[in-house]
Amino acid sequence: MDTFEIPDEIREHFRAARRAVAFSGAGVSHESGLDTFRGAGGLWERMRPEELATPEAFRADPGKVWRWYAWRHQTAAGARPNPAHLALVRWETLFPSFTLITQNVDGLHARAGSRGLLELHGTLLEARCHRCGKRRDLGEAVAESPEEPPVCACGGRFRPAVVWFGESLDPRVLSRGQDEAASCDLFLSVGTSSTVYPAAGLIELAHRAGACVIEVNPEPTPFSRLVDLRIGAPAGEAVPRLTEEIERCRTRG
Ligand code: OAD
Repeated sequence: MDTFEIPDEIREHFRAARRAVAFSGAGVSHESGLDTFRGAGGLWERMRPEELATPEAFRADPGKVWRWYAWRHQTAAGARPNPAHLALVRWETLFPSFTLITQNVDGLHARAGSRGLLELHGTLLEARCHRCGKRRDLGEAVAESPEEPPVCACGGRFRPAVVWFGESLDPRVLSRGQDEAASCDLFLSVGTSSTVYPAAGLIELAHRAGACVIEVNPEPTPFSRLVDLRIGAPAGEAVPRLTEEIERCRTRG
């Protein structure tokens, strides 16, 4: 990767920051071999979200939706965290407060070792009954019933514990994310097209609160012109390098 320049005023933010937030999307897992949703080769280029990721799709054809998530679960389970996931774990010790907010459901941040994660769009690791809300391990549920969603003791059906289009995010998770974004002084947006709301609104919240906002994405996003530093490089290269710079600033001043 071409080295990127970090201006002095950004280094000053690295030294002074007390509350940092990282906000991630599918691009952070791309170098682990997982598909993004949008852009060349993205999942939504070859599949229709309204047939796979909505409550209506699940009602119309639960087996189809279940099998697609079973495939995604299997792919995610076979993937390994990459250097971007691993570098973000180090942010926990770099700042007095650090919160990692992700739109990803693949579990790779947690597997890398990140703690206190806010998963805005839920998780692919668990299934929950659409009727009574009971939760269970998705891998076990798929092993037991690979073709159709298993039936819960209450008579409802298990579905992946993710947020679908047309559904609300967990209000507690969203409001914690919004509070963190609105009160941080350093905000890293990485690997997201920044087009899906309310998640993408966190970037604007941080910017309005006066945080130093950094974007890591090989492609521009609707927020690229608003951020304080844009790094047009893959996360697996840029985030470790950025992390080293922050470590240098904070340990040596
Ligand atoms: P998208 O697929 O919309 O965007 C992925 C972004 O990652 C794009 O902007 C790419 O340019 C960028 N990218 C690709 N490779 C990268 C790399 N190696 N390093 C850094 N960036 C890279 O994914 P999200 O923004 O996460 O929601 O999408 C948001 C939501 O839309 C998802 O949570 C999902 C989806 O539909 C639901 O399913 C509800």
